[in-house]
Amino acid sequence: MDDHSFIIVAIDGGAATGKSSTARALSERLGFMHVNTGAHYRTLTYALLEAGTDPTRPDQISKQLQTLEVETCLIDLSAQLAVNGKVLNENATRSNEVNAAVSIIAAQPKVRNFLFKYQRDQAELARNKNFPGLVMEGRDIGSVIFPDADFSFFLHADAKTRAMRRAKEGLKDSIAERDQIDSTRETAPLTCPDHAIKIDTGIYSLDTVIDHICQYIDPGKPEQTTP
Ligand code: DC
Repeated sequence: MDDHSFIIVAIDGGAATGKSSTARALSERLGFMHVNTGAHYRTLTYALLEAGTDPTRPDQISKQLQTLEVETCLIDLSAQLAVNGKVLNENATRSNEVNAAVSIIAAQPKVRNFLFKYQRDQAELARNKNFPGLVMEGRDIGSVIFPDADFSFFLHADAKTRAMRRAKEGLKDSIAERDQIDSTRETAPLTCPDHAIKIDTGIYSLDTVIDHICQYIDPGKPEQTTP
C-alpha cells in the first residue's frame, strides 16, 4: 500500500448482509476511519419520529429537517453523526419503530439530499484526522456517494442467514420488505455497481471475508484463507 495515498473503501449490501461487522473489522485491521451511513438514516428517522413527523409526508420531513443541525463525533475509529449535539445510542436507532420506518424515510429525496454532502465530506474529515483511509458502508456508497471509491464491495447472503443474524440480536426486522423498498426507490436505490466486487457473507467467516477484502486493498500481505 502506498503510504501517501488516501484510500476510500465502499461497502454496500442489503439488510443484515454483514456490512457493519465487516466494515468495523476492516477499519480496525487497516486503521481506517469507519462510517456507517445506515446509522445516519436511522438517527434522522429517530429524530423525525420523535418530533411527530409522518414518514410519508415530504412537507413535514422537509420542515423538520430544517431544525436539525448535524456534526460528526469521532469515537475511536468510528465517525458518528450527532444531531443537535447528540449521538444516539443503538437502543434508540435499532428499535423496532425505527426499523419499520427507516426505509420509507430514506426513500425521500429531501432526506438523501440532506445527507449527501455530509457523507461526501467524511473523506475530508478522515484525511484531516490523518487516517490512511475511509471505510464507508451503506446502500449507495459505491454507486452515488463515492462512485470513484478506490475499492467497492457488495455483500450478500442467503435469506436464512440474514434472518438468523437479526434473531440472534433479538431484533424484529422486516429484512425483505426493507430491501424491496431500498432497491426500488427512485433516488439512489440499493444496487450492486458494475465495478463492485461481490462477496457472499453467508458461507464464509468474518475473518475470511476480511482477509479476502484485504487481498484487494493490500495485495502485498499474504491471505490466510480464500473465499
Ligand atoms: O444498514 P442499515 O440496515 O442500518 O440501514 C438502515 C436503512 O437506511 C436501510 O433500510 C436503508 C437506509 N440506508 C440508505 O438508504 N442508504 C444508505 N447508504 C444506508 C442506509
